[in-house]
Amino acid sequence: MKIALLSLNGRSYTARRLREAARARGHSISVLRTDRFAISVETGQPDLYYRGRHVLHVDAVIPRIGVSITHFGTAVVRQLEQLDIFCLNSSLGIANARDKLRGLQVLARHNIGIPATSFVRDKADVLPAIGRVGGAPVIIKLLEGTQGAGVVLAETREIAAAIVQALHSANQNVLVQKFVSESRGRDIRALVVGDEVVAAMRRVAVEGEFRSNVHLGASTEAVTLDPESARVAVQAAQIMGLRVAGVDMLESDEGPQVIEVNSSPGLEGIEGASGIDVAGAIIDHIEQHVLFPELDIRQRLTVSRGYGVSELPVPKGSPLIGQTLEAGLREHDITALSLHRQGTVIPNPRGSRVIELGDRLLCYGKLEAMRAMLPPRPKRRRRPKTPPPARG
Ligand SMILES: Nc1ncnc2c1ncn2[C@@H]1O[C@H](COP(=O)(O)OP(=O)(O)OP(=O)(O)O)[C@@H](O)[C@H]1O
Ligand SMILES: [Mg+2]
Repeated sequence: MKIALLSLNGRSYTARRLREAARARGHSISVLRTDRFAISVETGQPDLYYRGRHVLHVDAVIPRIGVSITHFGTAVVRQLEQLDIFCLNSSLGIANARDKLRGLQVLARHNIGIPATSFVRDKADVLPAIGRVGGAPVIIKLLEGTQGAGVVLAETREIAAAIVQALHSANQNVLVQKFVSESRGRDIRALVVGDEVVAAMRRVAVEGEFRSNVHLGASTEAVTLDPESARVAVQAAQIMGLRVAGVDMLESDEGPQVIEVNSSPGLEGIEGASGIDVAGAIIDHIEQHVLFPELDIRQRLTVSRGYGVSELPVPKGSPLIGQTLEAGLREHDITALSLHRQGTVIPNPRGSRVIELGDRLLCYGKLEAMRAMLPPRPKRRRRPKTPPPARG
């Protein structure tokens, strides 16, 4: 294979390890500076140039997009996707992960534990928001801070409100988050490749510090994750749209809680702590998946008029209950892509399967036919006063 590593720093530990791993497996790999691409957008002819020359012969791309170049970098990755070139992480996944709030919003609707988080703009909303996430002490985070620099622990709600207001007046976006005190300055970094955690470490903050960032002096140790933490890490990466991710979790009394998913995780710390060849696992993953570049299902499937993708729930009283997929759906020009039943997913279910109460069917087909099968939209009820545990 010909692999391109998109990076602004070809000399970093991570870039060096990926080069070594690729070459050891007989592939050629070159580092391309993300800021030297030129994107050409033209109907029927999306194109990409590197240092003025056509990008033609690349089989796979490993994007390592730093914070300094998020917008242009994700545009380059999106262009590579339009050219059907395999990108280890998708442009959408990188964008989801880059903004902490955006990432948590996407995770919150799935069965992934996160610390209760609130995002407000108006002064009047600050104190109620602090109350909703559990009161002081409370964590305040800059939306795009890194390496612990934008994370503060406020001891009282008055101090918290003053910090939020000060940051707002400096035009910073901040989020207010429940302080998971039992994690005591420790967090877990799980390195996900494809559908498994290939390595994990625990970071332990220096005495008197609640932030376990290595840049702030934290130490690292290898850990073997319990199955629940591993499931959460893999699903968090997949929900964000990332094949490779560094998932950061706090060990809370209610189970693992994701605080962040990183789309360009560095390998130095994790390989050092775990002794595992993560770079090799990444190249192996590319070998196995290079024929399946990212494709936006919705973009491809909805170009036929009147057809689309929808999820069909099967509530009490649904006429679908007791019918086979063949009779209940296929006959109406609807194909079930996957069937969610009691916490498990049955991919590509057979037509002879019988639909049960409580199933959820991810379908592609005639929208008109699907509309008739959808139950009326439920009225949203007010949430109880005390926030329910973040885990579902
Ligand atoms: N809600 C929380 N409760 C307790 N500790 C927290 C919480 N959020 C963060 N921390 C601690 O603070 C550290 C830094 O937080 P976080 O990872 O969110 O920001 P960051 O490290 O600045 O961002 P990045 O990981 O993108 O560099 C975490 O590693 C963790 O130890
Ligand atoms: Mg962090």
